[in-house]
Amino acid sequence: MRPPQPGDADALLALASDAEVTRWFSWGPYTDVEQPRAYIERCAWQRERGEQLDLLIIDRERGPAGITGLSEFNYRDRRCIVGTWLGADFWGTQVNRESKAMIAYLGFELLGMNRIGSYSNPENERSTRALEAVGYSREGVLRQWHHHGERYLDVNIFGMLRDDWRASGQAETEISSDGTPPSAFLQAS
Ligand SMILES: CC(C)(COP(=O)(O)OP(=O)(O)OC[C@H]1O[C@@H](n2cnc3c(N)ncnc32)[C@H](O)[C@@H]1OP(=O)(O)O)[C@@H](O)C(=O)NCCC(=O)NCCS
Repeated sequence: MRPPQPGDADALLALASDAEVTRWFSWGPYTDVEQPRAYIERCAWQRERGEQLDLLIIDRERGPAGITGLSEFNYRDRRCIVGTWLGADFWGTQVNRESKAMIAYLGFELLGMNRIGSYSNPENERSTRALEAVGYSREGVLRQWHHHGERYLDVNIFGMLRDDWRASGQAETEISSDGTPPSAFLQAS
């Protein structure tokens, strides 16, 4: 996984021009390469400000697979939120599990977070199941949390604590990283 670069726009367009992939989001599906280009630009300044750290997931054999990232940082409480989307060809593979192990390593080990949360739409059973399958506990429902189009939608709230992560197999996964995280994200470590 690495930060998305301008040259990744065509790949992101191909992955997220599928309405099934973006069905639960307030954006998409992409219809023009300018949309992923604008997203990639936004990622760069959100990284500089310590607001959001999105990474392109790359499958060694098949190339770009989707995006996973950390956002909603609260440095005082050492918590943030993880969100992921994958091109439909990568659903049901090991990509979600492996990328979640890597993002947990990034959040807990490299950035010093104590809690990583996540959301799912209660009707998005696949996403709900996928989060539970990688060790996130469903903690409840946040009512009218998400403004989507003209409607407010409820979300399931999930959490994984540093202690949960340590006790899980995920923390045992061998993961290596190059370089250091952008300094704006190191406030809690
Ligand atoms: C969410 C996402 C990243 C999960 O990755 P994935 O590869 O599809 O997830 P997995 O296949 O590992 O896990 C899905 C689980 O849901 C189950 N599942 C699939 N469809 C289901 C359904 N309709 N009802 C209930 N469970 C379902 C699968 O059996 C699997 O459970 P298991 O691990 O116990 O077998 C991927 O589906 C995606 O990108 N979806 C579109 C974007 C999105 O919704 N992102 C999440 C926003 S909160």
